[in-house]
Amino acid sequence: MSAHGPVIPMISRKSSGLNGTAHVPGDKSISHRSLILGAMTKGETKVTGLLEGQDVLDTAKAMQAFGAHVEKKGETWHVEGVGVGAFKEPDQVIDCGNSGTGVRLIMGAVATSPITATFTGDASLNSRPMARITDPLALFGAKSYGRSKGRLPLTLVGAAGAKGVRYELPMASAQVKSAVLLAGLAAEGETVVIEKTATRDHSERMLNGFGASVVTEVTNEARIITLQGQPEFKPQTITVPRDPSSAAFPVCAAIITEGSDILVPNIGLNPTRAGIFTTLKEMGADLTYENMREEGGEPMADLRAKFSPNLKGITVPENRAASMIDEYPVLSVVAAFAEGKTHMPGVHELRVKESDRIDAMAQGLRAAGITVDEGEDWWTVHGRGFGDVPGGATVETFLDHRIAMSFMVMGLASEKPITLSDGGPIATSFPIFEPLMAGLGADMARCT
Ligand code: S3P
Repeated sequence: MSAHGPVIPMISRKSSGLNGTAHVPGDKSISHRSLILGAMTKGETKVTGLLEGQDVLDTAKAMQAFGAHVEKKGETWHVEGVGVGAFKEPDQVIDCGNSGTGVRLIMGAVATSPITATFTGDASLNSRPMARITDPLALFGAKSYGRSKGRLPLTLVGAAGAKGVRYELPMASAQVKSAVLLAGLAAEGETVVIEKTATRDHSERMLNGFGASVVTEVTNEARIITLQGQPEFKPQTITVPRDPSSAAFPVCAAIITEGSDILVPNIGLNPTRAGIFTTLKEMGADLTYENMREEGGEPMADLRAKFSPNLKGITVPENRAASMIDEYPVLSVVAAFAEGKTHMPGVHELRVKESDRIDAMAQGLRAAGITVDEGEDWWTVHGRGFGDVPGGATVETFLDHRIAMSFMVMGLASEKPITLSDGGPIATSFPIFEPLMAGLGADMARCT
């Protein structure tokens, strides 16, 4: 069994050009946050464009278990929340499936409600580090009882009468930052989070939208984010922008597949998320932004991506890592089709995602004829140039949606097909991946 259902082996084959328009689903980060903040707000929050991937559906279910009412009517999700610090104790264990964002943000949100809850997930999630969340939550007075290294299943005992804290992030993680800010909502006084590297700032933006005061002071050394506790939240109407991390898959597929020219409309280009597109352009990809505009306080554009036969390997600047952390797997596929080496330093966090993404990609790329060097926090892909990537491998997915989609992209342009052990996890973040890619002309199928 895969994360949420049967194992689905898949194959992708050399394709003769991707063409058309790709409407990718809503942003996963913003979708989780819409449900969680909606659940912390009395009154009805309405959300359209929500990603209906399994990760977000698991968060919706969890919010119901904590007392919110979550329901889809027509195309709109309605969330009737309980108010800040007023989560109800759930009757059952909370299963967050495959989602690190889901469980970490929810643990933060409930840590300052005086209730006890137990969290679990699939084999991938239960192997991921949680001390990075429970350590700062302990500063608020929340107690946690997990397995070794704080891993799930884990029981969290929320703090009553918590006071705001000051916390310097030991790693570049928007999940940890967000968990601390969400815990700070029900605490008295200020909660301050200090981050050395800018990570995605969707929580800060959305918290302000709901009526909290979150101020970010940017100095040469750090970003100092100050939240005033116990705000008056007002329900919101939210339109979730489409996900740049999902957009990266059709975009990269078009860049490496001969004869391609696709449009991916309405993609958020928040600078804390858009590093992949800058990197692809530096490599020589024919990628342009059309119809640039601002919507809901976020920069947006329609992306046009065309086949780019003369890609060059580059060194990806270390300070860009956080803004494209989820896109390194698919970047490593593009790198295989570039001339020369693509060096990716400063990416230790890739080792603690849904899988060890450096290891998972290196294994599959090597099986497909690509040389990869790696260290604890860096890796280098030796590109072979367009037309010279062998493929012909069966690769492991490791319960990781982005590993699965990256290798499906690779098979579209490698000389021989790529077979995937299990495409099931793709449904966690991009449930329409197969029909969307097939609609563009990708030769991708489930193995029978
Ligand atoms: C996310 C933050 C990132 C990212 C994940 C989504 C978020 O994780 O990898 O897919 O929504 O906050 P980290 O913050 O742990 O790097």
